[in-house]
Amino acid sequence: MLVPTTKLADRVRLTELQEKIQYIAARPLECATALPAQAYTAPDFYQWEVEHIFKKQWLCVGHISQVPKPGDYINLDLLDEPISIVHGKDDQIRVLSRVCAHRGMDIMPEGFGHPAQGNRRSFLCPYHHWSYGLDGHLFGAPEMHQSQQFERDKICLPTFRSEIWQGFVFVTFDATLESVSTHYAQLLPYVERWNMGSMEMVANLQWDCRFNWKVLVENFMEPYHHLGTHCKTFEPMMPAAGTWTEPALVNTIVCHLPLAKSIVDQVKAGNSPSVFQSPSNLLPDDHYEYSVCLGTPNFLLFIGPDRVYWYLLLPTSAGEMTLHTTLLVTPESKEMPGFEQVLEQEIAALRKFHLEDVEVCTAVQRGLRSSLYSPGPLGHLEMPIWLFQQYLAQQIQADSNQ
Ligand code: FES
Ligand SMILES: [Fe+2]
Repeated sequence: MLVPTTKLADRVRLTELQEKIQYIAARPLECATALPAQAYTAPDFYQWEVEHIFKKQWLCVGHISQVPKPGDYINLDLLDEPISIVHGKDDQIRVLSRVCAHRGMDIMPEGFGHPAQGNRRSFLCPYHHWSYGLDGHLFGAPEMHQSQQFERDKICLPTFRSEIWQGFVFVTFDATLESVSTHYAQLLPYVERWNMGSMEMVANLQWDCRFNWKVLVENFMEPYHHLGTHCKTFEPMMPAAGTWTEPALVNTIVCHLPLAKSIVDQVKAGNSPSVFQSPSNLLPDDHYEYSVCLGTPNFLLFIGPDRVYWYLLLPTSAGEMTLHTTLLVTPESKEMPGFEQVLEQEIAALRKFHLEDVEVCTAVQRGLRSSLYSPGPLGHLEMPIWLFQQYLAQQIQADSNQ
C-alpha cells in the first residue's frame, strides 16, 4: 500500500521519539535525564497518547460530593467528548454523553445559558426539543411519528463505562480494562485511611493552561522544585531534601513529603497547625507528612493530615490543557466554627501556590519549544519523573506488542 510521504515521515519521527523515550527510561536513576522536547510539543505524539494511553486507561473525572443529590450533574469535555456526570433518580452515578441522538448537538451548550454544573429533572436538547431522562433514555421527540427510522425505545444518550473508587468517578473508553480497584490496588494503602468517599469538595478552581499535560504531572510529582518555585511557601514546611519516593509500584507513583522537624515537634506537642478536622482513621505518622500520588496516567492527589487536593487534568492538545485544582475536607470540618473564613484563607493559599506552578509550567513549555533545548540530567529528588518515564515506556512497549 502506498503511504503518503508526509505521513510516513510523521510515523518515522514518532517511532524515533518513542524509541528515545524507551532508551532514556531504561537507564538507572543516577543516569536519568529529562525526555526530549518533542515528547511535550509534537502533535503526533500527543495523538498517540490520546489513542494509546488516555483511551485505554481509567480517567478520573469527578468526586461524588460534586453530585450529591438525584438530578445533580457536572459537564466536562474529555478528549473532545462532551460528557455529563449525572446522579440518577435511582441513586446511580452515570457518565453520559451530551451528544444528542438526533443530529448530534451538545444538549447542554454553555452558550445557551446551561451552567456546567446544576440540578435537572431531565435534559432537553435545545435544537429540536428531544428530551432525555437522567439515565439517558429518550423521553420525548416532537413530530417524529412519520419517521420509520424513529424507534423511541432504542434511542438514548450513550453511557460511558464508569466506576466509583474511593469517592472518585472514573471513566474509560476501554470495555476490557480491569476494574478501577484492581488497577489501583497498589495506590490503595496510601489513600484508604482518608476515607475519601466521605470527604467533600469545598473548592474547585479552573485554569486554562498553555503547557503539555506531562509538564504538569512532572511538576506535581517532583518535590525538587520546592527549593526554587515554592521557596517561600512549601520549602519551609516540607523541605525538598527530606522527601523520598516509593520504589516502582503498579499504575502508581507515590512521593513522601515529610514536614519540617519544627512542625513535627509542634504536632507531637499537641499544637498541630492543621486547620481542618483530620480523617479519624489516620495513623500517627500520617500527621507528620504530606504525600503526592499519581494513579497513572493522570489521577493526581496531594494528601495532607487534614485535607486532600485533587487535580483534574483535561488535556486538549500537545501544548494545552484545562486544569481544575480542587480541595476536599472531612464533613466534620464544615461544622467547625469559623469554617468559611478558614476556607477562604485556604483557597487563597491554593491559588497562590498553584500560580507559582502555573508560571513555571508555562515557562517550561516555552523553553521546550526552543531549538536550543537539550534534555538535562535528573537529580535523585526527581525520582517520580524517572518512574513516570518508565510508565510511558511501558505503554509504548504495550502498543508495539499488539
Ligand atoms: S439535535 Fe438534538 S433535538 Fe435535534
Ligand atoms: Fe509545585
